[in-house]
Amino acid sequence: MTTTTTETTAVRGAVGTAHTRVEGLAKVTGAARYAGEIPFAELAHGWLVVSTIARGRIRSVEAEPVLAMPGVLAVLHHGNAPRVDTDYVGMLGAPDPTCAVFQHDRVPSMGWPVALVVAETSEEARAAAEALVVHYDQEPHDIDFAGGHPDAYPLDGHLPAVAEKGDLEAELTASAVVLDAEYTTPEEHHNPMEPHAATARWDGGRLEVVDSNQGATWVVGEFAKLFSLDPSAVRVRSEHVGGGFGSKGLRAHQVAAVMAATVLQRPVRVVLTRRQMFSLAGYRSPTSQRVRLGADPDGRLRALEHRALSLTSTVHEFIEPSAAVARVMYDADAHHTANTVVRLDVPTPTFMRAPGEAPGSFALEAALDELAEKCGIDPIELRLRNEPEKGPVSGLPFSTRNLRACFEEGARRFGWADRDPRPGLRREGRWLLGTGTAAASFGAGAAPSTAVLTAEADGTFTVRIAAADIGTGARTALTLVAADALEVAPDRVRVRIGDSDFGPAMIAGGSMGTRSWSWAVMAAAKELRERLALGADIPPEGITVRSDTTEAIGALAQKERHSFGAQFAEVAVDVTTGEVRVRRMLGVFAAGRIVNPLTARNQFVGGMIWGISMALHEEAVRDRASGGHVGADLAGYHVATHADVPLVEADWVDDPDPDDPVGIKGIGEIGIVGAAAAVANAVWHATGVRHRHLPIRPDRVL
Ligand code: MOS
Repeated sequence: MTTTTTETTAVRGAVGTAHTRVEGLAKVTGAARYAGEIPFAELAHGWLVVSTIARGRIRSVEAEPVLAMPGVLAVLHHGNAPRVDTDYVGMLGAPDPTCAVFQHDRVPSMGWPVALVVAETSEEARAAAEALVVHYDQEPHDIDFAGGHPDAYPLDGHLPAVAEKGDLEAELTASAVVLDAEYTTPEEHHNPMEPHAATARWDGGRLEVVDSNQGATWVVGEFAKLFSLDPSAVRVRSEHVGGGFGSKGLRAHQVAAVMAATVLQRPVRVVLTRRQMFSLAGYRSPTSQRVRLGADPDGRLRALEHRALSLTSTVHEFIEPSAAVARVMYDADAHHTANTVVRLDVPTPTFMRAPGEAPGSFALEAALDELAEKCGIDPIELRLRNEPEKGPVSGLPFSTRNLRACFEEGARRFGWADRDPRPGLRREGRWLLGTGTAAASFGAGAAPSTAVLTAEADGTFTVRIAAADIGTGARTALTLVAADALEVAPDRVRVRIGDSDFGPAMIAGGSMGTRSWSWAVMAAAKELRERLALGADIPPEGITVRSDTTEAIGALAQKERHSFGAQFAEVAVDVTTGEVRVRRMLGVFAAGRIVNPLTARNQFVGGMIWGISMALHEEAVRDRASGGHVGADLAGYHVATHADVPLVEADWVDDPDPDDPVGIKGIGEIGIVGAAAAVANAVWHATGVRHRHLPIRPDRVL
């Protein structure tokens, strides 16, 4: 059968048209299976046992009594577990030793994995895990995090620790208006709805792991290195993922599952409990941030300093680069930013939605609001007066920078022009009312990926790419991109994702997933169309082409590549209870071409709601005595729920990326950036009181 695609150009235009999720029906009917529920014959269940001390040594693991319990198959711990190799650099750097479980008797934090109990059923594994006695030699621990910590040191992450331009002290001295303020954000947790889960098995000499992760290629690479396997001997599948937000990379439970599957030679599943996720899934470090701004009376910045402190564990370095967002946002004659870290007896933090920008924009954008007040200038006008022509520190050109358009459109829709800038004036019964704004920015990168496209004999097309749809709508976006590239209707395209056998691909992270995968899909589609245009007969197995974007992305010119946005919030503050309620929120973004307005709006709004949550609710509390959490669950850890979320609107201005084949920039993270600052600035406008410490709890308001 011969199929030509070139006669269907009339259907072009799927990109930019709202499309419901291609896997939506499977998800709402339960047909979509997640990593923790895919059935396997002979499946055994592992339950992790985690430390009850924050620092010390394991003296003994009393495995014998537990091995006699019903259904118990094995107890893995540092005394008997397979050895792994941790001396490597993976896709995102050196591995966090927390994931290389059971390799030694040291305990560096509360909730550290000390054993895996494997049994025939999940219930038996849990009962035995709870009965397992572990003896420790406890040592004193230190979990005290505070600004100005004497052991803080600068740490590069995905961005350099320090960036400096000009003479800061001289410019501060010469400034007519100076702001010097300290802002803090607490430890925050991702809490994706689907807990972390992995099933590992050996299948004809290959290791197969069915997993909930943000990138099959990434996890394969880690397994191959850890277990000294050829990458082709490892397969990771993760078709459906119920949220990730940075927490779903390589973690302890996957490695424990592989070890147990190796020892027992049968499939083993390990699922983290919600409580275990608080110590084993990573989290956002608390931050302490000092911002110093110096300006002329007209608000033009002479000096900008942003110094951020976050924490990491004693076993692995991770930095929350909160001070880096200033390098993109505002120009100043002297511009100093530094990200520093202190090592404490806590689990290693990790990437969490907009790592760096989320807490960093709270401090910077709240500081800008304070400066606007001091200068007597409208906060939007102040920002526009400090708009840079090029990267304030790098000197590089921006790919596009449409922040001004976001503020203009946002101000018009929000009704900003009518705003009385004076705080504490608007009252409605027991409520004080206020509005606030903040800017947003997030990096717009792309990373090499491969895609495999097949023109099937029945006239349909199959795309295979090791993409991860962690709830973002990426799979649907890729369907639209492929349909346009092939010039066919979306219903003739099926996109298969979440399988490392499809070839290397970028992770769902850094807001780079859909952009990077789309690029690879475009490249393959172009070649496939050329092949089909020659009038080739399609054989029964179809015609398959493969793309690799390594070269094209490597050839990209050096530019400041970012998305931008303007956030607006209106709040009401109850003067009798201190409760803050967000009444409405608007975000206008310049974030590249929007592939699917339906799921894109969902991404923006989801990020903005998280910003409300960050501003008002989220805070993980550690108990100093034990070093562990107080209330490591969704009862103790408050997140914004329906009753906290008002009308949240998100929209965008035209901002196609000129260097991307589809014009995409990436939208996964920018929604949360600036959102908490907009709420905090609105609380000041309502009450006249600045809140520099999140969350803005009722007890802090009163
Ligand atoms: Mo995102 S924090 O890169 O998953």
